[in-house]
Amino acid sequence: MGLWAEHVVPRVTDLALGTPDVRALRERALAPARGDVVELGFGSGPTLPLYPAAVTSVRAVEPSAVARRLAAERVAAASVPVTFVGLDGADLDLPDAAADTVVSTFSLCTIPDADRTLREVRRVLRPGGQLLFLEHGLSPDPRTARWQHRLDGLQQRLFAGCHLVRPIDELVRRAGLNVTSLEHDRLRGPGPMSYLYLGVATP
Ligand SMILES: C[S@@+](CC[C@H](N)C(=O)[O-])C[C@H]1O[C@@H](n2cnc3c(N)ncnc32)[C@H](O)[C@@H]1O
Repeated sequence: MGLWAEHVVPRVTDLALGTPDVRALRERALAPARGDVVELGFGSGPTLPLYPAAVTSVRAVEPSAVARRLAAERVAAASVPVTFVGLDGADLDLPDAAADTVVSTFSLCTIPDADRTLREVRRVLRPGGQLLFLEHGLSPDPRTARWQHRLDGLQQRLFAGCHLVRPIDELVRRAGLNVTSLEHDRLRGPGPMSYLYLGVATP
C-alpha cells in the first residue's frame, strides 16, 4: 500500500465522515444493533460512541494500522469490550453463527471482494441476526450514474479502492441475505459520492 492510501486516506476518511450529518445517519443505521456485533471496515471507530445499550461486544475487522491507531481513544472509552479480530471482511476468522449483528458503514464500497464478504456475513450471523448497512453506491439517476462510472477509476485510485458504482442492495441480496428494510438518503457534497443505502438484512 502506498503512503497516500496508508497514511492520508484513513485521516481524510475520519474527518470527511465525522460530520454531524453523517453522525445522525450512523445513529439511524445503528439503532437496531444488539448483542455481539461484528463490524466490517471499522476505520477510526466512529460508530463506537453511537452503539445502543443493547450491544454487548464489538469485534472489529480493519486492515489499516493507521485507522486502528486513530480508533484507540474511542476503543479505550467504549462501554463494551472491543477486540480486533482480523484484517479482511472476506475471510472472517470467526465461527459460524458468531454474531447477533454485523455492521458495515461506508465499507462495502472499499472492501475489494464485496461478494465474498457478504457471504461471510451470512455465515457468521446467528438465526435472527441482522446486517446493518449504511453505504454510498450506485445512483438510480442515469445522469449521476454516468458520472459515477466516469469517475470510478479515479475514485479508486484516490481513496484506497473505494468504488462509486456498487449497487449495494443487489450485492446484499446476491449473497443470499434478505433485505428487510431499505431507505435512501444523500450525503452533502458531489452527487457521484452522495447516494446512500441505509438498510437491514437477515440471513
Ligand atoms: C471509507 S472507510 C470507512 C470506515 C468506517 N467504517 C466509517 O464508517 O468511517 C473503509 C474502511 O474499510 C477498510 N477496509 C478496506 N479493505 C477491507 C477489507 N478487506 N476488510 C475489511 N475492511 C476493509 C478500510 O481500511 C477503511 O477503514
